[in-house]
Amino acid sequence: ARTLGGKHLLVTSGPTHEPIDPVRYIANRSSGAQGTAIGAALAERGARVTFVTGPASVPPPSGVEVIRVETAGEMLAAVQAALPADAAVMAAAVADWHVVSASGQKLKKDGGGPPTLALAQNPDILAAVAGLGESRPRLVVGFAAETENVLEHARAKRLRKGCDWIVANDVSSATGIMGGTENAVTLITAGGEEAWERMGKDAVAARLADRIAQALA
Ligand code: C5P
Repeated sequence: ARTLGGKHLLVTSGPTHEPIDPVRYIANRSSGAQGTAIGAALAERGARVTFVTGPASVPPPSGVEVIRVETAGEMLAAVQAALPADAAVMAAAVADWHVVSASGQKLKKDGGGPPTLALAQNPDILAAVAGLGESRPRLVVGFAAETENVLEHARAKRLRKGCDWIVANDVSSATGIMGGTENAVTLITAGGEEAWERMGKDAVAARLADRIAQALA
């Protein structure tokens, strides 16, 4: 059913790449699978979806407007350009840091020892969107990928970032979740917490999309 007909949903997905020089970058293990499944589930329910994605290892969903970016800075600009939206789901694994002055030329190993990379903090896109005034989406959903004390960290993150919901998941390597096809999440809202049984990322996306449709109805 078109439970999200007439709604504009913004989704971020995938990792970001932060350049070191023209041929090297800092990245992370996000595949973009969960964000892609969410984009697809929202589009299937009739939403107009703007899908801002870093360099993911899975193709983007069909039926969405795909905006490809590389860095966190580019992702923030693309997100700002995509607003207003009724809801935003920030599933991207955004790099926390970028290299302060990425070299315009390839760094050479015979240039006098290994380089030292100075890092600077990236903008927090979720916190920026959640902190908007009039143009804040009515519902802002973040993710918390943690390897320990998952729920405590996720609860703190929801409050610190000012988002409405946090989808918490344990990405310790033993879970096989990062890069895998299944996910086990807890949905944390102001009203309480729900632990969902382990299921496919498509099923997580479907359930989350249904909950978003209810919240926006
Ligand atoms: O701070 P941390 O990366 O653990 O928070 C995860 C959540 O914040 C995810 O929803 C992610 O998409 C979002 N995030 C963001 N911009 C950042 C860092 C994280 O939107 N720079």
